[in-house]
Amino acid sequence: MSLPERVVVVDVGPRDGLQNEATALSVDERVAFCDRLVAAGLPVVEVGAFVSPKWVPQMAGSDAVLRRVAPREGVRLPVLVPNRTGYDNARAAGARAIAVFTAASETFNRKNVNASIAESFARFAEFVPEARRDGIWVRGYVSTCFGCPYEGKVAPEAVLDVARRLVDAGCDEVSIGDTIGVAVPTQVSDVMGRLRDALGPARLAVHFHDTRGTALANVLAALQEGIAIVDSSAGGLGGCPYAPGASGNLATEDLLYMLHGMGVATGVDLEAVAAASGAVGRALGRALPSKYLQACASA
Ligand code: HMG
Ligand code: MG
Repeated sequence: MSLPERVVVVDVGPRDGLQNEATALSVDERVAFCDRLVAAGLPVVEVGAFVSPKWVPQMAGSDAVLRRVAPREGVRLPVLVPNRTGYDNARAAGARAIAVFTAASETFNRKNVNASIAESFARFAEFVPEARRDGIWVRGYVSTCFGCPYEGKVAPEAVLDVARRLVDAGCDEVSIGDTIGVAVPTQVSDVMGRLRDALGPARLAVHFHDTRGTALANVLAALQEGIAIVDSSAGGLGGCPYAPGASGNLATEDLLYMLHGMGVATGVDLEAVAAASGAVGRALGRALPSKYLQACASA
C-alpha cells in the first residue's frame, strides 16, 4: 500500500466541532480545549470563526479565544473568515492564519453564507490579497464536494473548478470537504486524483464528516492518492449548522489510531488528544462519538 511517511493533522474541533453543539462552551473552556490540543502536538488547530454571531452563536467570542490561546512555535491557529468584516476582526485579534470557505454547490453556499459562489469569491477579493501582503497564511475550504444536502450529486468538475479558483484567489492550501458525510472511497480516489493532477498534492487537504461511517476509509483512499493533510475533530465533535444531517467530523483519535498503527507519523500524542476530548465531553455533558474514546471507556 502506498502511504505518506507523515501526515499533517488539522484539528478543527474547536471550530467545526463546537459550532454545531447545542451547548455553547465558554471562552475559558474553548481556550483550555485549544491549549490542550496544541500541547498534544497538533500542528494546526482551528480555534474559532469570525462569522456573524447571529448565524452561529457558538462561535461568538472567537476574538477572545484567539487572543488567549498560547501560541507555540511552528503551530498554526487559523480562524474562519467569510468576508471583510470577519477579516478586520480577525486581524484586530492577532490572526496569523485565516480560512475562507465556499462550496461546490450553489444552494449550499447560499444557505451557508447568503451568497452565490461568485459572490463569495468577490468577497474574498476584498481581503485575501491584503492578507497575503500582510503575511497571513490562507486556507480555502470547498464544501459539498461529494454531495449536497439540497442538490444531491456534485460533479467532480465543479469541485475542480472551485478549488482552482481558490488557489488563483491566493489560498495556500485547499481543503476538500465532505460536508454531509456521503463520500465513499472510490469517489474520493476519483476526485482527489483529479485534484492532485491539476493542483499538485502539497496544497490539498481532505475534510471528512463521519455521518455514514465512511470517513476513515475515505482518508485511506485520499492517502493513496498522495494527500498528506487531513482534517479531523477531537472526540468527533461537529457537524454544520447549514447542512441538515451533518454529524461529527472524523474523530482525531480514530484518525491517529489508524495512522500510527500503519506506521504513518503525525507528531501528535493520541492519549493527550483523548484527554482534551474527555474534558470537552464532560463540559458538554455527553459522551463524544470517537470510537477510540468509546473503546477506552468500555475497557
Ligand atoms: P448576511 O446576513 O448576509 O450579512 O450574512 P450582511 O453583510 O448583510 O450583514 C448582516 C449583519 O451581520 C450586519 O450586522 C453585519 O455587520 C453583520 P447588523 O447591521 O445587522 O447589526 N456581519 C458580521 N458580524 C460578525 N462577523 C462577520 C460579519 N459579517 C457581517 N464576519 C454572513 C453573511 C457571511 C456574515 C453570514 O451568512 C454568516 O456569518 N455565515 C456563517 C456561516 C457559518 O459559519 N457556517 C459554518 C462554517 S462553514 C462549514 O462548517 C463547512 C466546513 O467545515 C467545511 C465542510 O465541512 O464542508 C468549513
Ligand atoms: Mg466541516
